[in-house]
Amino acid sequence: MRRKLAAGNWKMNGLSAQLTEVEALCAAHPDPKVDLLIAPPATLISSMVVTASDHRLAIAGQDCHAEESGAHTGDISAQMLKDAGASHVILGHSERREDHGESDDDVRGKARAALAAGLKVVICIGESLEEREAANTLDIIAGQLAGSLPDVLTGENTVIAYEPIWAIGTGKVPTLGQIGDVHDFIRTKLEARFGEGVGRSIRLLYGGSVKPSNASDIFAVSNVDGALVGGASLKASDFSGIIKALE
Ligand code: G3P
Repeated sequence: MRRKLAAGNWKMNGLSAQLTEVEALCAAHPDPKVDLLIAPPATLISSMVVTASDHRLAIAGQDCHAEESGAHTGDISAQMLKDAGASHVILGHSERREDHGESDDDVRGKARAALAAGLKVVICIGESLEEREAANTLDIIAGQLAGSLPDVLTGENTVIAYEPIWAIGTGKVPTLGQIGDVHDFIRTKLEARFGEGVGRSIRLLYGGSVKPSNASDIFAVSNVDGALVGGASLKASDFSGIIKALE
């Protein structure tokens, strides 16, 4: 049985003052029935780890380098994230793929490094609007899955987030049928590549304009094991509504 996961991606948002939102979230969910994860900007990882230390809230990085250390100004290694107290890292978010030209190969290299460092990975995939309108969604998803996932992984250390790019921060959400089609397709691909046991145990999150008002409907879709939430994870009250819908 896959445990449900509510994950928040703060992206490039959040100063120390916003840690009060995490305090409020922890207070609202002292004994959560689902797994909780927040990926703050790197500057807040250590302090958020301290804020959440008495709670079952895991902390993630939003990216890592594929190498352990070296001359890569501005980059952060998986070991550094681990050292700062993170347990997970988000990789291959479409904003990284677009802003930093990250390819599937890059994402796979980072995933290998993160897993080797003992981090769990949340690997993001998703099609653009043009790709969807050209009826290429499943081909794109198949290619990203094949290219971005390392060959060795488990359901314990790997989560996949399906985030259609056109639904991110836009308020547009795919139909429940469209979400279900892609999640079922991902599940089939995972079982084919990693075997039924591992393929069935990897959690699949939906991401893209998830809000308290649409969360219950999305969570009822087959093979949706939770959400990767952007804007609505910044306020404890909004994120809490999504968590309750998942519980
Ligand atoms: O990683 C989360 C994400 O890209 C979705 O963002 O703001 O549409 O919930 P948002």
